[in-house]
Amino acid sequence: MNLKYRKTIIAGNWKMNKTLSETKAFAEAIKPMMGKHKWCEVVLCVPAVNIPGAVKAFKDTRVAIGGENCHYEASGAFTGEVTVEMLKEVGAKYVIIGHSERRQYYNETDITVNKKTHAALAAGLRPIVCVGESLEQREMGVTEELIAYQVKMALSGLNEGQVRRVVIAYEPIWAIGTGKTATAQQAGEVCAHIRAIIRKEYGARVARAVTIQYGGSMNAKNAAELLAQPDIDGGLIGGASLKPEDFTTIINAANQD
Ligand code: PGA
Repeated sequence: MNLKYRKTIIAGNWKMNKTLSETKAFAEAIKPMMGKHKWCEVVLCVPAVNIPGAVKAFKDTRVAIGGENCHYEASGAFTGEVTVEMLKEVGAKYVIIGHSERRQYYNETDITVNKKTHAALAAGLRPIVCVGESLEQREMGVTEELIAYQVKMALSGLNEGQVRRVVIAYEPIWAIGTGKTATAQQAGEVCAHIRAIIRKEYGARVARAVTIQYGGSMNAKNAAELLAQPDIDGGLIGGASLKPEDFTTIINAANQD
């Protein structure tokens, strides 16, 4: 983390979990535990249908609500999809783009990630853009090249002001939902590499202002060590964000002096 130049953001990714009543119960359970966030921003990305209910449930807190996906077109014949304006109008502030599960199961590509990033920013949403390598890619030694490609593709055509509003989440695919976390050093190295790519493309001022998260089996036990890395500015948390105690512990780890 680097509190001088950029925001620390702890974001939960609920994936396809929790009904509306479970969402409300989570809000009631976590509210008394959370205390003041201090400098850390807290986000919960929830299934689209539950966004209005989640916004209401977290109304008197500083928890921002986000979507987990969006379409890049403004309207049209795209059965089952939601637009950025729809997300915005029901109170979402963030949207996850290019999660590896979307890339794997729903044909998300670096091209659609770029289009969606443009659309989200145009609507005033902050995109959380996910990048990350598979185990095979890591073992073949192409992690750096792949991440550089994914980051450049995602940000292509954005101006400096827009890049500052993008959150990048480095999520090695082999660490997602597997309980196998990248070591703090491995995660820190790739996040530093991402910042170096942004520095090269957009300059030092933009690079130091961008929030870069780590995601992939981040939990109550390993969060503090990961967040102690200078280029890891938060987390995108799946499993551990479903439990109020664990999620609170991670938020508190981000609020350490
Ligand atoms: P996990 O998921 O924390 O359950 O590994 C992270 C993610 O997919 O964003």
